[in-house]
Amino acid sequence: FSLPETLNEPMRNFEPGSSDRANLIAALNEFKAQAPIEIPILVNGEKIHTGKIQEQRIPSDHQTILAKAYEADSSIVKKAIEGALAVKSTWEAYPFNERSTIFLKAADLAAGKYRFKLLAATMLGQGKNTWQAEIDSAAELIDFWRFNNKYAHEIYQQQPSKNAPGVWNRVEYRPLEGFVYAITPFNFTAIAGNLPSAPALMGNVVLWKPSPSSLLSNWVIMEILREAGLPDGVIQFIPGPAEEITDVILKSPDFASLHFTGSTFVFKHLWKTIGNNIDTYKSYPRIVGETGGKNFHMVHKSADVPNVVNQTIRSAFEYQGQKCSACSRAYIPDTLWDEFRELLLQQHSKINVGSPEDFSNFMGAVIHEASFEKIKGYIDWAAKDADSEIIAGGTYDKSKGYFVQPTIIVTKNPKSRTMVEEIFGPVLTIYVYKADEYEKVLDLVNETSSYALTGSIFAQSRSAIMLAGSKLRHASGNFYINDKSTGAIVGQQPFGGSRSSGTNDKGGSATLLYRFTSMRTIKENF
Ligand code: ALA
Repeated sequence: FSLPETLNEPMRNFEPGSSDRANLIAALNEFKAQAPIEIPILVNGEKIHTGKIQEQRIPSDHQTILAKAYEADSSIVKKAIEGALAVKSTWEAYPFNERSTIFLKAADLAAGKYRFKLLAATMLGQGKNTWQAEIDSAAELIDFWRFNNKYAHEIYQQQPSKNAPGVWNRVEYRPLEGFVYAITPFNFTAIAGNLPSAPALMGNVVLWKPSPSSLLSNWVIMEILREAGLPDGVIQFIPGPAEEITDVILKSPDFASLHFTGSTFVFKHLWKTIGNNIDTYKSYPRIVGETGGKNFHMVHKSADVPNVVNQTIRSAFEYQGQKCSACSRAYIPDTLWDEFRELLLQQHSKINVGSPEDFSNFMGAVIHEASFEKIKGYIDWAAKDADSEIIAGGTYDKSKGYFVQPTIIVTKNPKSRTMVEEIFGPVLTIYVYKADEYEKVLDLVNETSSYALTGSIFAQSRSAIMLAGSKLRHASGNFYINDKSTGAIVGQQPFGGSRSSGTNDKGGSATLLYRFTSMRTIKENF
């Protein structure tokens, strides 16, 4: 059979006076009127309320609690594992088109009935402005649900091409034996939705631990999946204390896979724990993760400066620099520096920072206090560092919300802390190099890329682009030419990185889905 045509969800523009804007404002007001919104644990379709609560606050107004989720404990996690395993054989036996229909319906619900709820939850809870939320909780989430179906369909059709006379060879794409554990990040509602959904589409059962900082939008996703017909127990929603939940899960003999997006530190820790527990498991677990980044914009002397400036401002400061793909270091040749600096400061001065509910704000608050303090620590360090000069921003204020002004540092040391360490906030560091040392600087960029998620080369010269392509071959999983390092679109640019940035299994591609299948080869003599 063939699937409906797979297209990217069109983005809306929320012009003043439009019905989209009015609907969004209504959804924001509704959530605020209901706050704090209670979020249950969902196990086997049953909503569970415990004595312990996890709070999600509004980053730009941290005295307001947006949502309160009940926390799962060890006994609930054990129940969730048993429940998931109990429905596993039924879910596996669903024909692909039946599973597929559920996720296609979820995509339509997210595009229609739930669009404004998803946007409002992402804006209020995760601090995205309207358009950043639209890119994420509307377009990208919907695209993941639609395109995964297309990729899965293509996978299932791949069969051995040769049979000897009297023989029929075939392969079966089984789900993994056991359950998948999805640990999801706050910074993309779409990624939080994809991490449990992609394995479930391939016939797996999943335990989903959402981030405490994106509880509301993640719960809306769960509601959508249920309304779309996802059977009880296939995805178990278990907010709660990470260590306690993870400890139970990683000791289960049926643990079959980790699907993770979050910090490099936590991912490595989980990997080590899985290694230590390896004799416990029935199969070798599939470990799939996207972790940190320290993404670069490398600029050649032939680059178009206004384009570099536009793309750099967007990549470094949209969503407060909290996209895993955000540019946080830029290399500018001295021949372009004066022009670049002037335009950059001009654009920087136009950035408004404040509540995401005000449509004129380009930036909002960073996600929580720990993040604010970490970013502040880097800014304070740069203010004292002899090699660094803060040329814009450099201030912060957490009295009402966790606000950090977009900050630009220029350093004389290309290996300085802010050039190599992940900050995950609106801080861009620039190193100005001698234009004729381009090749040497490419080597330096590669050498200082312990992370390898995204990166961009800006140049008009073809040979400069080719040289960067080859010298930086392993310095990023997504490489952009004359474009910003953010904004990968599902179905167009599969997304993921290597080195300390992850296992590079590429969200929005068939590669990711293969990780949640275990092939059985069948040879039949007839
Ligand atoms: N799609 C997101 C980006 O590339 C993750 O920024």
